[in-house]
Amino acid sequence: MTHSRSEDAELSASEPRHAGAPTDNPADTKGHRGSAARDDGGAGDVAASSSLLDKRDHEDQAPESFTELVGQTHKAAVLDPTAEPVLTVSNLKMYFPVKSGGLVRRKVGDVQAVDGVSFEVPEGGSLGLVGESGCGKSTTGRLITRLYEPTGGSMMFQGKDLATLSQKEMLPLRREVQMIFQDPYSSLNPRHTVGTIVGTPLLVHNMVPKKQVLSRVQELLEVVGLNPEHYNRYPNEFSGGQRQRIGIARALALQPKVMVADEPVSALDVSIQAQVINLLQDIQHEFNVAFLFIAHDLAVVRHFCPEVAVMYLGKIVEIGDRESIYGRAHHPYTQALLSAVPDIKQAATGGRRERIRLEGDVPSPINPPSGCRFRTRCPIAQEICAKHEPPLLQIGKRHKVACHFPGELGKNPSEPLTARLLGVDNAGSPDPGASPSKDLVTKPGYDDTWFDLDKRSFGRA
Ligand SMILES: Nc1ncnc2c1ncn2[C@@H]1O[C@H](COP(=O)(O)OP(=O)(O)OP(=O)(O)O)[C@@H](O)[C@H]1O
Ligand code: SF4
Ligand SMILES: [Mg+2]
Repeated sequence: MTHSRSEDAELSASEPRHAGAPTDNPADTKGHRGSAARDDGGAGDVAASSSLLDKRDHEDQAPESFTELVGQTHKAAVLDPTAEPVLTVSNLKMYFPVKSGGLVRRKVGDVQAVDGVSFEVPEGGSLGLVGESGCGKSTTGRLITRLYEPTGGSMMFQGKDLATLSQKEMLPLRREVQMIFQDPYSSLNPRHTVGTIVGTPLLVHNMVPKKQVLSRVQELLEVVGLNPEHYNRYPNEFSGGQRQRIGIARALALQPKVMVADEPVSALDVSIQAQVINLLQDIQHEFNVAFLFIAHDLAVVRHFCPEVAVMYLGKIVEIGDRESIYGRAHHPYTQALLSAVPDIKQAATGGRRERIRLEGDVPSPINPPSGCRFRTRCPIAQEICAKHEPPLLQIGKRHKVACHFPGELGKNPSEPLTARLLGVDNAGSPDPGASPSKDLVTKPGYDDTWFDLDKRSFGRA
């Protein structure tokens, strides 16, 4: 049995194993599931390490990218255009109050962390949520699981609005919407055994009779590729990838319809990322769970999510299916994000190799720029951008963009396509002769008709 180099690094970085800790003995892996549920290195099922890990033992081989690794066993998730939405989010807002210092703490402003986002998560499917740090991704996820009370908007799930239910009314629905956290080290209580961690939700929600909790926990451990006999071990006896599997088993225990996965693999080594993503894909197929999948990494999102929403400073600036976002991005911010991803930038930027570097920092969400929030960093901003917020306009069958000058890289129109719709002239000043369009209300999902960028009018394709 050999360890790959990263396994060794991971083992040496973790706390020392104590007697009885998982070993490399293949007997430890008995009863485990197949390839996708295989691990990760570290304690336990190292003996079962897949060919992915074995490959890295060869020092002269260049490290493989996530896309190469994940593609060895699983294909990218496919969109089911007939799937009904399991979760419909409309105009969701979260403003965190900012208070003054001193004895009498008065409210002096708001952090507009999420400001009117709308989207659908299809049943059994995945919507990716991407964007720079601080753009409001986690806040959106936390709102859906009702860890925060929304400032406004609605979140329809099974005919009920999660945004307005009381905590008591939420209780039966809590188990239906579960969260997987980014950090497998801090999201598990180090003083509880894996059995307690995975079993507690089963008890709290009366999912199984008390006598059957242990066997259900063991089933769940097996589902996520861990040794069912390890239920009495503590989180520090597992590697990072294995701890994330424990977090997944905990979320899965309640048989949720929706999982909010907030950066579920970003703390993991790339080969382990691929294994955990494969596991999530298997779980999705087996249990028909829908995912709101939050991540920085556009390559990971491209694989797992057939649809993607791009956020900037609390707003969705572009949303669409994989082909629209990765192949025909129309928002300058999406194009800049994609240009930074080595193995997808060429396709996304029409063969351009150089990275698009955005000037300046992300502005404060306490006092965001007027009009388009991206205008202070946008390379093609014009006068109208400071005066009017661009509507999130549907420009294709499954493609929406919020920009006055939408276009593929280098093909932006010279005049704002939105001016007439907003009832203003090209500089954004009121145009007495124009009447604003009624079709600009941002709603979740897609219509059968949309704004044709060539004809510059609404119509059916
Ligand atoms: N509890 C809070 N109180 C006040 N402001 C908050 C709170 N939580 C988040 N924020 C602010 O809201 C904004 C959005 O934060 P959020 O954590 O949702 O971003 P994110 O997109 O998840 O970023 P990252 O990629 O770094 O995880 C940030 O400006 C953040 O500082
Ligand atoms: S609306 Fe203006 S500032 Fe905003 S992304 Fe489009 S061109 Fe840039
Ligand atoms: Mg976050």
